Amino acid sequence: MQFINLQAQYQLISESVKKRIENVLNHGQYILGPEVTELETKLAAYAGTRFCVSTGSGTVSLEMALRALGIGPGDEVITVPYSFFATAEVVAIVGAKPVFVDIRPDTFCINEALIEQAVTPRTKAIIPVSLYGQMPDMEKINAIAAKHGLAVIEDGAQSFGAQQRTADGKQLHSCGASLIGSTSFYPAKPLGGYGEGGALFTNDEALYKKFIMLRNHGSPKRDEHLMLGMNARLDSIQAAILLAKMEVFEDEIQKRNQIADRYSNDLMNACVTPYVSPNNLHVYAQYTLRFEDRGKVQTALAAQGIPSVTHYSRCIHEQPIFANLGYAPEDFPEALKASRQVLCLPMSPYLPAEDQEKIIRAIQQI
Ligand SMILES: Cc1ncc(COP(=O)(O)O)c(C=O)c1O
Repeated sequence: MQFINLQAQYQLISESVKKRIENVLNHGQYILGPEVTELETKLAAYAGTRFCVSTGSGTVSLEMALRALGIGPGDEVITVPYSFFATAEVVAIVGAKPVFVDIRPDTFCINEALIEQAVTPRTKAIIPVSLYGQMPDMEKINAIAAKHGLAVIEDGAQSFGAQQRTADGKQLHSCGASLIGSTSFYPAKPLGGYGEGGALFTNDEALYKKFIMLRNHGSPKRDEHLMLGMNARLDSIQAAILLAKMEVFEDEIQKRNQIADRYSNDLMNACVTPYVSPNNLHVYAQYTLRFEDRGKVQTALAAQGIPSVTHYSRCIHEQPIFANLGYAPEDFPEALKASRQVLCLPMSPYLPAEDQEKIIRAIQQI
């Protein structure tokens, strides 16, 4: 059994993928070809933003967002200690200081109620993470940011396709719910490619123009460089593959939810199943359970040939490279607890029913 079965999806979309790749091979515009523009237009429409700029990865997207905002040495950026390392890594890379706020025990996302006490005169931005595929309360976060004049960059690496209904009935889309949204097309993500990739989203034209320049050596047009940028372009072939994947994306979100519902219905009496806020559409980049004795469960599952993964077994504030920030492990008790308890089960839209059955039975027995 595989943790994520990418081949099953390929079987389904192989004709479209091959045709689209062949188009690229025929026209030969491997860099910033028409597929890149087509993909960006479709992604922006999906997220409900005016602009989308595709990039080389989710990590570089976040770095570009910070650089476009002019964030650097002397600045602080509020984020979570429980995420993939890149979320905080980019803050330090641009020379700013990551300031952590603990997560909520139910959704594993930033605890909105703790954000304000972390704001200082140096704070410039908040990076909430839509962890595992579910958005934190973006209205609350945007309101806190507006009150203190901060930018909000949603790290939607795991949540493209997720949605949230606001108190007044508006439907927010992940990556389109704040000043900047950032996502990743790493193959294991809900909208994953066949290689590296990412995208940035915004309604702000000035930021959009900076993103375009940053990803291409600070250059708005040939032989003109207005800023120091980087090479952060998405390949035309990768864009072609993602266009084929978008054809089945809606259906895949539904399939992920069906599998998650089955897991949760059958396991809720055996262990702690994921909490989904009633206003949220979750895209289940990961399906996560909590166990007091995670190691025992993981070993017992492995003995039956069932793979499981710990996302994440060590918090970011515990990482050796961030020792200089001076945090103690217990400074963020919910993040610490999650990192010791969470176990992710196999999840992909095409996980066979027999595998689902086997996993459920195994956990019930354990
Ligand atoms: C929450 C989060 N942020 C950022 C990233 C970085 O994305 P990428 O691997 O595309 O650089 C990832 C993906 O691994 C992620 O899960």
